[in-house]
Amino acid sequence: MWLWELCCLFIVLKNCNGVIYHLNDSEYERMPPLFGLDRYDTCLNDVDGLYCVVKLDLHVGPNNELMKLIKEYSAHKPKHYNYTYLERGVCVTRTCRQFAVNKKLEINEDLNEILEVCLNDSIHREFKIEAKLSNIYYCDKHNEQIDVDVNDWIVAGVFVMLILLVAIGTFYDVFYCSTDAHEDTMQENKILLNFSLRKNWQELVNYKMFDQRYERLKGLNGLRSIATTLTIIAHVIFINSMGFIDSPHDFEKTYETFHFHLIYNGLMIVQIFFVMAAFLQAYNIQIRSETKPLEWSQLPKLFFTRWCRLTPANAAMIAFSATWLRHMGSGPLWKLYVTNSVVADCRSYWWLHVLYLNNYCSDDTLCAAQTWHVAADTQLFVIGMFVYSATESSGRWLALTLLLLVGMTAPALHVWLQDLDALVLMSPEFYRRWFDSTFHYLHVLGHNNLTCYVIGLGTGTLVYHWQKKNVDLYKYKLSLS
Ligand SMILES: *[C@@H]1O[C@H](CO)[C@@H](O)[C@H](O)[C@H]1NC(C)=O
Ligand SMILES: *[C@@H]1O[C@H](CO)[C@@H](O)[C@H](O)[C@H]1NC(C)=O
Ligand SMILES: *[C@@H]1O[C@H](CO)[C@@H](O)[C@H](O)[C@H]1NC(C)=O
Ligand SMILES: *[C@@H]1O[C@H](CO)[C@@H](O)[C@H](O)[C@H]1NC(C)=O
Repeated sequence: MWLWELCCLFIVLKNCNGVIYHLNDSEYERMPPLFGLDRYDTCLNDVDGLYCVVKLDLHVGPNNELMKLIKEYSAHKPKHYNYTYLERGVCVTRTCRQFAVNKKLEINEDLNEILEVCLNDSIHREFKIEAKLSNIYYCDKHNEQIDVDVNDWIVAGVFVMLILLVAIGTFYDVFYCSTDAHEDTMQENKILLNFSLRKNWQELVNYKMFDQRYERLKGLNGLRSIATTLTIIAHVIFINSMGFIDSPHDFEKTYETFHFHLIYNGLMIVQIFFVMAAFLQAYNIQIRSETKPLEWSQLPKLFFTRWCRLTPANAAMIAFSATWLRHMGSGPLWKLYVTNSVVADCRSYWWLHVLYLNNYCSDDTLCAAQTWHVAADTQLFVIGMFVYSATESSGRWLALTLLLLVGMTAPALHVWLQDLDALVLMSPEFYRRWFDSTFHYLHVLGHNNLTCYVIGLGTGTLVYHWQKKNVDLYKYKLSLS
């Protein structure tokens, strides 16, 4: 028996790799750099210029000490990049010229071979480690241009039409409608007026209250602005960390800094929006049903109104991302991060965005990724509407309790069955690959975010009732002064 146990122990020890949490700079530099870019402009200035962006896997025999270091350092996923594969932008026609004598450089078997030998050679010479070509993302050639296609022109046409409408509408509003003489004699053209900048601006800044009770909710606007600002700050980090950064080690060190903790753990802030949206939804429904009880037959119209409110702006952004965005720049990584990712996803999945189902498609990872929240919010809105039109008073509380239970069980089941992390960890690899299974299979799905939504609905319902019954909450307030 003990022999068996010893055997097991050996098997465990043999497969057991350590984890390295820290490396000082000199140790770190023993590893081949994660990223590397040759000059792009000079490369493509040559008539035969060819520039490829590639992925390399590192390989060595089992007992290589450096490879062990690389593996153990990469194993600490939350804070470290994966150093077992590298990414390079290579000017094939300059850097690899000596490997290509007599071979015509075309994107075919030859190119694979040339790149592999060429990159392996330089990495092997410096680090004594073997690099295998695992993927050529794409190659750019001299004077290559992306053509403007039919879709681009259609979108451009629509944008130009919108701008014209706005110009005409504003003109019409300013010169015809505001002069007093016309006021009685002329029937205003409502549709044109809707495009008037002046009128829209006035409506935007004139905060109209339909009911006195909203006066007390004004503070929510402030909360919303703060949360929005913080969300923007968190997304600005992407500029620092996406792309082939020069100093991955410095980026890894940010994980040890306090103020970066706030950002990396800041994903939960989105829940504020869910709570607020649900709170207002529940509150509005009840105030509205004082005059017009909520009925099933009104739901389609309500959904359609919401769709009309959100979609024009959203659709314009998606249309832009699917078309003109790819003409907005160029560079060695432009295709990797824009054309072949954001634009390609928007081209295939734009319809999911228009239907607000994009968060349930895990292939659509890059097209306007931030709009998952709009989709989740819309799905929760639909659920909330159904619950509120199907139930009243005590049934409503029962339904909310059930939803709360669903909202608390579903994420746990996802974590268990799909083997995910309980929370999204903003790991360096997430920034590098822009894919994280916890993010795509748990975080962005509408039903997983039910919990906070239900809390919002419940609070909205409760506050309405308390206000109606004049419950005095001030006497429960604690004051320190
Ligand atoms: C880095 O760590 C290695 C191994 O732990 C050590 O030998 C070396 O002196 C350290 N270098 C610096 C600059 O601290
Ligand atoms: C690093 O990447 C390689 C190849 O892409 C993969 O096989 C390996 O599992 C990754 N390592 C970690 C720690 O994720
Ligand atoms: C990389 O280069 C080394 C040294 O020239 C060679 O031994 C090894 O076989 C090469 N590996 C590949 C995958 O080409
Ligand atoms: C959505 O809910 C899941 C599970 O409750 C949670 O892990 C995730 O962080 C939530 N999403 C956001 C944006 O907070």
